Amino acid sequence: MLSGKEGHATKKSMEILVALGEIYGAKKLVRVSSVQVSGVSYKNLGDAGIEFLNELAEDGRARVKSTLNPAGMDLVNWQSQGIGKDFASKQLEVIAAYTRLGLEPSCTCTPYLAGNEPGFAEHIAWSESSAVVYANSVLGARTNREGGPSALAASLTGRTPLYGYHLAANRRPSLAVDVEAKLTAPEDFSAMGYFVGKIANNGIPYFRGVEGAGLEELKTLSAALASSGGVAMFHMERVTPEAKGVPSGTDAVSFTRRDLGETAAALNDSGDPDFISVGCPHCSLDELATIARLLKGRSVTREFWVCCSRAVKALSDERGYSRRIEASGAKFACDTCMVVAPIETMGYKVVATNSAKAVHYLRNNGLQVRFWPIARCVSEATEAR
Ligand code: F3S
Repeated sequence: MLSGKEGHATKKSMEILVALGEIYGAKKLVRVSSVQVSGVSYKNLGDAGIEFLNELAEDGRARVKSTLNPAGMDLVNWQSQGIGKDFASKQLEVIAAYTRLGLEPSCTCTPYLAGNEPGFAEHIAWSESSAVVYANSVLGARTNREGGPSALAASLTGRTPLYGYHLAANRRPSLAVDVEAKLTAPEDFSAMGYFVGKIANNGIPYFRGVEGAGLEELKTLSAALASSGGVAMFHMERVTPEAKGVPSGTDAVSFTRRDLGETAAALNDSGDPDFISVGCPHCSLDELATIARLLKGRSVTREFWVCCSRAVKALSDERGYSRRIEASGAKFACDTCMVVAPIETMGYKVVATNSAKAVHYLRNNGLQVRFWPIARCVSEATEAR
């Protein structure tokens, strides 16, 4: 592959992987069974990114199941989102290049809810940070926090350097977290992840004493841990397949009721939101059911996006949730989200959301934020009919 016998795109990809392997001291490459590529929004890629993808697409081809992270717009209903034509045509060019490369335009940060769900101990190369944490910690698959180019290189070669989280020795906990706060909603897990991510930084927290962590709690916890810090994996009793306690002498911290309150308060600016969005990471089917129930008898009074994958939206269509959500005036934002869509250029100033990760990146994008539970997001975005 490195010699160029298998084509230009494969050679370029292998050069990236060899360079990475040398930097991190990998002894060899390992085959991957699944790839997830970030760097899909035109907002982040720009024209140089399109040029790079088009060059690879001349002879490159995905060798394993490979899916994409959210794009900068709903690929079908971008006009109703207020996305400009210039941005839309560039975004569609990006998707066309990835599709020519053989990647599935699933455009979601929850690939595990959309048909890309690796199993225990499988080596994979994923780059969406929240999905990386979920894959390592909940599914027990093995991935480093790939960048977009290195994940794409893994797709086009079917391999990744064997280092970091691919090795059992690097998947042991480094910090015990005693959860004393009572966590009653996914937003509490989000705040906890934000708090712990800052302390753990690049380490592996081990959560003790957590009750009632389901899919929604674990995906928002994963997202928050990866946004305030560089966390790629956590352990949680009864959740993480590899969770077997912490080695003696491991540092420990507590997460108290006070920490929960202070973290949630710090995730709030002031201001009345002109844009409200839920679904970071992309909504599960159960979350869509909840939103449909909360919207019963209500009409939307300000811009309100429900972000999810097209795959989960299709299931929601079948169950009748989508019809009930759209009847209120709420908009589905498939393929995209409030962070990667260019909403800051569309005149919005204050965004309310139920995700600490979204708060983090929306602030980086220059927006004011409110961190509210999902029920409050829905009630503030609507009025009774
Ligand atoms: Fe997904 Fe966008 Fe949040 S990519 S994890 S919904 S910032």
